Amino acid sequence: MTAAPAAGEIEALVGPDRAHRRVYTDPALFEREMERIFGRLWIFVGHDSQVPNPGDWTRARIGREDAVMVRHDDGGVRVLLNRCAHRGMAVCMGRSGSARRLVCPYHGWAYGTDGRLLGAPHPKGYDDGARGRPGMPPAARVAVHRGFVFASLAGTGPTLAEYLGEIADALDNMADRSPEGRLRLDGGCLRQTFRGNWKLHMENAVDMIHPGFVHESSVAAARAHMEEAGEDAEAEADQAVLMFRANGLTPEEWDRIGIHAYPEGHVFMGGFYRGGAIDPDRRDGPFRRYREAMAEAYGEDGAARILGRETFNNLVYPNLSLNTRFQQIRVVHPVAVDRTDVHSYVFRLEGAPEEMFHAAVKFVSTANSPASPVLADDLAVFERLQAGLAGAGGEWIDLSRRAGRDEAFGARGRRDAGTSELALRAMLGAWRRHMAA
Ligand code: FES
Ligand code: FE
Repeated sequence: MTAAPAAGEIEALVGPDRAHRRVYTDPALFEREMERIFGRLWIFVGHDSQVPNPGDWTRARIGREDAVMVRHDDGGVRVLLNRCAHRGMAVCMGRSGSARRLVCPYHGWAYGTDGRLLGAPHPKGYDDGARGRPGMPPAARVAVHRGFVFASLAGTGPTLAEYLGEIADALDNMADRSPEGRLRLDGGCLRQTFRGNWKLHMENAVDMIHPGFVHESSVAAARAHMEEAGEDAEAEADQAVLMFRANGLTPEEWDRIGIHAYPEGHVFMGGFYRGGAIDPDRRDGPFRRYREAMAEAYGEDGAARILGRETFNNLVYPNLSLNTRFQQIRVVHPVAVDRTDVHSYVFRLEGAPEEMFHAAVKFVSTANSPASPVLADDLAVFERLQAGLAGAGGEWIDLSRRAGRDEAFGARGRRDAGTSELALRAMLGAWRRHMAA
């Protein structure tokens, strides 16, 4: 392991249009990321629909920290570090559960759903009866936006609203797609692990040059399928087939989609196709009923505005990716400098026809399951990138595509053509600021 780098040394690792390979490969920098980024920023921990009733809990992660998101008696959501005050055991085992008290499986110390120590077995063994002692440590700050629960391990810093800024629009849009304005996380979780740095996944999610190369085989298969299916193919096609085909856009078409970035490192890309189940003008079957429910809830114009927000991946720095039109999120969990877990979830839109949820589950499975032709491509790339960056082939990576050509967007954002590397520069710029601070 290399020595902990000084702030000046870190600043030199990210330039305006290049980054040093150590950003992805240095274990000492990874340790600092856990402290400066995952240990301080607002980190997404879960959705409050995962813990609907008092006592419901689900495991969460804040960087490498094992945490528990739990619904307390007062109706609020608490985020606790999953560590027993006695000897450090994980109090909550498994992925989720429901209990009036959280009891450590090692020696039975019991905690309230707010983390308070309620008692230890055989309290006579302690002069103070094991009372009034610290319990399971709570995250320093917890805040909820439209059901999305974020926690920060730092007691001070910007509020969640200040931190999210305009990217909150993506969270709002996802919730607004429910006629009741409410989401429910459902359908389980798809889990992937890859041997590469966590940033590679985030960067790839808004990289609009790679699909035509990396996903070329599924583009070809989707095109062939559509040709064979004939005239009505568009209306009949599975959502995944349409997306696979859209991966084969020309660079000029990708450029028109556009990329947007904010100083906090949050970024989003435009939508790159609108066919199939997500076509906002679709009038058939379940979508017609959905559209009617939306119009009833928000008015015709309101529904059109909500459904017309055409974006694909929206990234909340550092590790949350939302695809609002597919009711899907991915959470990127760093494990080691060269190891990352990715968890994908789907939301039910409360008040929408059941078929909308089934279509979203089908799509998330096709795009993110182990059998997915696109995911397998991307994971293979991440592992080769990591190997390349760790090798002796060169010190720097190039981020200069369309550098300096972006323009102002909204209050504080910048935007550019889709094939720009603006998003990578924004995310690494945020990285540099937090890491050197
Ligand atoms: Fe939890 Fe002993 S470690 S009760
Ligand atoms: Fe990809």
